[in-house]
Amino acid sequence: MDRWITIESTTVPASDTELTLSQRDDDFAIRVSGLPGDLMNSRRHHSEDALAEFACTRLSAIENAQILVGGLGMGFTLAAVLKTVGVSAEVIVAELVPAVVEWNRGLLGRCAGRPIEDGRTRVHLGDVADLLKQRADKFDAILLDVDNGPEPMTHSDNEWLYSLAGLKRIYEKLRPEGIVAIWSARADQAFMKRLKKTGFNVQLRTVRARPGKGSRHKIFVAQKPRAQK
Ligand SMILES: C[S@@+](CC[C@H](N)C(=O)[O-])C[C@H]1O[C@@H](n2cnc3c(N)ncnc32)[C@H](O)[C@@H]1O
Repeated sequence: MDRWITIESTTVPASDTELTLSQRDDDFAIRVSGLPGDLMNSRRHHSEDALAEFACTRLSAIENAQILVGGLGMGFTLAAVLKTVGVSAEVIVAELVPAVVEWNRGLLGRCAGRPIEDGRTRVHLGDVADLLKQRADKFDAILLDVDNGPEPMTHSDNEWLYSLAGLKRIYEKLRPEGIVAIWSARADQAFMKRLKKTGFNVQLRTVRARPGKGSRHKIFVAQKPRAQK
């Protein structure tokens, strides 16, 4: 196979946006209708792995760590979280598009080593924002890779996640010293300011799409301060 073949397509719930899964030899791509480039490509996942590393390294020795991953995609971030955290951790992965979960249960799952089949993974089919609004329990880390950055791409309602209201909710849902890490194709000063205004200590990290090469992606790493005595 020397060209991309569309294997399946699906519609993002409550929208006209179409997602397609394409394959070329052992490579896969998920694309969004009407937008250039790939939402996700199986050959480039260095920054998706780094997202997990930045948010979860401090959790490797923590018992019963609770982690929320927003956006399953091809499962690379989820797989990297599972590699980093301990055996007692619980990792909830929220995915808006049912077909993406099905693709991961099938052919696509081999890309990241089938992380949704790991005993520590819980799949939440639905919007990560609803989960953040509804669940009462708190997380040690929240990882968001649902768009191209702090602007909606697959789902217009994602705007809430990056707003001051959304960030305040994320802050409430984190335990002291908990980290929210947000993947982005570019830096965004206004978003950085909103994170700081919410109360987070923020770092902006740069990671190449592939080790040592490719686009320079950004990861906002925002940590909730330690609880006041
Ligand atoms: C760029 S991909 C994630 C890539 C992933 N980090 C990986 O390692 O493969 C974005 C994913 O987020 C999903 N998504 C978009 N908005 C969402 C939302 N509000 N809640 C849950 N999932 C969402 C998309 O359907 C897509 O599967």
